[in-house]
Amino acid sequence: MAVQINPSILSADFARLADEAKAVEGADWLHVDVMDNHFVPNLTLGVPVVESLARATDTPLDCHLMIEAPDRWAPQYVEAGASSVTFHVEAAAAPVRLAREIRAKGARASMALKPATPIEPYEDLLPELDMLLIMTVEPGFGGQAFLDIMLPKIRRTRELIGKHGLELWLQVDGGVSASTIERCADAGADVFVAGSAVYGASDPAEAVRALRTQAEAATAKASWACDH
Ligand code: DX5
Ligand code: ZN
Repeated sequence: MAVQINPSILSADFARLADEAKAVEGADWLHVDVMDNHFVPNLTLGVPVVESLARATDTPLDCHLMIEAPDRWAPQYVEAGASSVTFHVEAAAAPVRLAREIRAKGARASMALKPATPIEPYEDLLPELDMLLIMTVEPGFGGQAFLDIMLPKIRRTRELIGKHGLELWLQVDGGVSASTIERCADAGADVFVAGSAVYGASDPAEAVRALRTQAEAATAKASWACDH
């Protein structure tokens, strides 16, 4: 699987979202953080903004729902134009049913794990998913320090993906930057969310290219990728 770089618009200027989407042309996806002030202590945006953004950009939207009751709300984000919808397993009442519903509506289904949530109980669910998101910070805010203690979970998840021969993408989100992306790629991640490292740079498109180059080089050397 090729490396993918997903800039997070959480670190963009919310008054100029269409321009900020254009500023990262060349990115694989735009990562859209939806927060409800209940699941996380922060509030961002909802369905109407996703609808407008989907009309304003050709880059597919990767919606990360940090919300309570995703079973109720996630399908609306597919209808709003998201091509990938991620729900948190800690908030989902019926993750299998929800993943199937997201897929049936035509989007990629993805499940996220907070730092303290282990992957092992969900091994049997992995075939129901198109992507698994391992949070490398506590969700809620951009600009936090990367949690190195998540690297073993990334490695174990990559092993499970290999063991079951799945096409599952493995996304990391939180503190991903020039100084941490190689560790993530080496551990087994192939989809990289970066907020402050992209929108905090003087040239966001160049930051995307540089992160991609670093991740590709680290992947080429990684033992998990050499087996394929
Ligand atoms: C945090 C969000 C992230 C955030 C990452 O809860 O899910 O997507 O934007 O920001 P950085 O890359 O600055 O850590
Ligand atoms: Zn996110």
